[in-house]
Amino acid sequence: MTAIPDIMLSNGQNIPQFGFGVFLVKPEETVAAVSSALQVGYRHIDTAEMYGNENEVGEAIGRSDLDRGDVFVTSKLANDAHEPDDARRAFDESLKALGFDYLDLFLIHWPLPTRYDGDYVSTWKTLEEFYREGRARSIGVSNFQPRHLRRLHAECDIPPAVNQIEVNPYLTQDEVRGFCAEHQIAIEAWSPLGRGNVLADPMVESIARRVGKTPAQVVLRWHIERGDIVFPKSVNPERIKENMGIFDFELPGEDVEAITLLNRDERTGPDPDKFDGRR
Ligand code: A2P
Repeated sequence: MTAIPDIMLSNGQNIPQFGFGVFLVKPEETVAAVSSALQVGYRHIDTAEMYGNENEVGEAIGRSDLDRGDVFVTSKLANDAHEPDDARRAFDESLKALGFDYLDLFLIHWPLPTRYDGDYVSTWKTLEEFYREGRARSIGVSNFQPRHLRRLHAECDIPPAVNQIEVNPYLTQDEVRGFCAEHQIAIEAWSPLGRGNVLADPMVESIARRVGKTPAQVVLRWHIERGDIVFPKSVNPERIKENMGIFDFELPGEDVEAITLLNRDERTGPDPDKFDGRR
């Protein structure tokens, strides 16, 4: 089995740099997909209340022969639960659905700057409670822009350990990544394959042919070389295995740079400054 490196977060906790994402994995497919991932060696699962599959993630981990402490699990706060009391209830419900008494990482899913009077600060202070209680071993945010992060830094006690944002070769996110690097906030790249869109890119294909890997493996390795945390999603056991095969090769600096230059600032998901969470 290939060794998956850990990244140490600013609070001293380790997170596996590579994991399994279950965004858009239907609940009825989740137990099988997560079980396949655990079987081939994934030890980090990224879910969210809004994915509707926390129950099944917990079930797959419970059915495996792994201990709770062997798997790093992240979940995220639902967009309709930003008010502190709602956030407390939602966090309890996430733990209950997963069947856990703690989460390794809990995130505010979207900043929603146009909702709740733009107040994501009191939401963050509620996550600080979960952290102090030890029920969230690390806390972080998702889809936060530098201006949102600056406010948390100015008004809160505990800095976010991670910012989970959309990153792929067509959306390299230089500004947010630069800000986070300066402030010791680890970057997690969601939809690292651009939902599959970047896999037919001629540059990616030609590098893949040269290094003898698949386009998906090249793109995932590009994320790893850049130091980001990555958790591709797949419901196909072959691809789940393929996506893990990225720790037996390296991409030379010029290939990393060539892929980074594919940037088009093209999102597949919503703009965090405009998204109100209601879709
Ligand atoms: P599938 O679930 O059928 O494997 P992202 O993680 O960027 O959101 O991308 C997920 C999409 O990429 C899914 O549609 C998934 O399809 C597909 N995918 C995941 N791994 C691979 C792979 N190794 N090769 C091709 N497509 C993949």
